[in-house]
Amino acid sequence: TLRAVVRGVGHYLPARVVPNSEFETRIDTSDEWIKTRTGIERRHFAAEGETTSDLGAHAARAALSDAGMTADDLDAVILATSTADLTFPSAATMIQQKIGMKKGFAFDVQAVCAGFVFALANANALILSGQARRVLVVGAETFSRILDFEDRSTCVLFGDGAGAVVLEAATGTGTSADRGILATDLNSDGTHRELLYVDGGVSTTGTAGHLRMQGNQVFRHAVEKLAQTAHTALDKAGLSSADVDWIVPHQANLRIISATASRMQVPMERVVVTVQDHGNTSAASIPLALSVGKARGQIKEGDLLVTEAIGGGLSWGSVVLRW
Ligand code: ACO
Repeated sequence: TLRAVVRGVGHYLPARVVPNSEFETRIDTSDEWIKTRTGIERRHFAAEGETTSDLGAHAARAALSDAGMTADDLDAVILATSTADLTFPSAATMIQQKIGMKKGFAFDVQAVCAGFVFALANANALILSGQARRVLVVGAETFSRILDFEDRSTCVLFGDGAGAVVLEAATGTGTSADRGILATDLNSDGTHRELLYVDGGVSTTGTAGHLRMQGNQVFRHAVEKLAQTAHTALDKAGLSSADVDWIVPHQANLRIISATASRMQVPMERVVVTVQDHGNTSAASIPLALSVGKARGQIKEGDLLVTEAIGGGLSWGSVVLRW
C-alpha cells in the first residue's frame, strides 16, 4: 500500500524563555495559578524582527537533516500557521526561499491550533493522489504578536515556536509495511466563531488584532471533541485506544490533555507532554511535541501515534500514524 511515511522531524524554539513569574509584575496573576490551571511553567517568545517563517525555516532545516535530505529533494512545503509574516505571500513560500528550494510548490493552511493536523491530512492527500512524493509539513507561530498583554485570561497561555516533519511516499514491505499515515479525521463548525478569534484582520479592521477567547467554553468543547475525533480516526484505521503507543496532543492545557487521555483510557505514561515548557504554540505544538518526544527517546520507529487538536473555528481533528 502507498503511504506517507515520516522520514525526519525537527523543531526550533526562540532563545528567549519567559517564566510565569515574568507576568506577576505586569498583571494580576501568579505562577501558582498558571501552573495549577494550565500546567504551563514557561514559554518562548521570538525576538524583535524574528518572524514565523524564520522559526519555520530553522525547524525545516532540522527536519531535513534528520531525514538525510536537502531542499532539492522536496516537492512541496505546507505551513500551518495563523501568524504569517505578511498578509501575502504565504509564509510557506518564505520558508521555501529560506531553505533554498527552487522547485515545487508551497502554501499555508489556516486552522489555528488544529492547523498541523489539517496540514498533515493535506500532505497525505497530495502524496496518496500522486501530486507529490516528498512534502515538508511545518507548524510555526509567533502568537506573542497577537496577545493582549493586559488580558490575564489569555496572555499567559501562549508561546512561539516551530516544528516540522518530512513525509515521503513509500510502499513499504516486510516490517515497514505498516508505517506511515493510517487515517485522518477533520472537522469544523463555524457557528462557534465567537469562542476563539482575533479581533482584527485585512477585510474588517485593517489591523492584526488581538486574540480573544472564552476559555471555559473552549475547554468544554475540547474535552468532548478531542477524544471523539481520535476515536473516529482510530476506527477508520481499524484500530482502538489499546493499540496506541503515544498520544501526541495539541499542547494547550494539561487538564485538557489528561481529560482526553482519560476518556480514551490511555494512561498519562503514554502521552507526550511539552506544555510545561512551550505553552500553547498553536499549530506548532504537535510537531514540537513529535520532535521533543523523539529526542527524549519516547517515540520510536514502529510506534502507533495519535495526534489530536482543536482550535479557533472551531476546527478539530486527528491523524493516526505509525512512526
Ligand atoms: N491569573 C489569575 N487569575 C486568572 C487568570 C490568570 N492568568 N486568568 C483568569 N483568571 C481568573 C478569572 O478571571 C476567573 O476569575 P473570576 O472567577 O473572579 O471571574 C477565574 O480565574 C476562573 O476563570 P475561568 O476562565 O473559569 O478558569 P478556568 O479554570 O476555565 O481556566 C483557562 C481558564 C486556563 C483559560 C481554561 O479555560 C482553558 O485552558 N481553556 C482552554 C483554552 C484553550 O486551550 N484555548 C486554546 C485552544 S487552541 C487555539 O485555537 C488558539
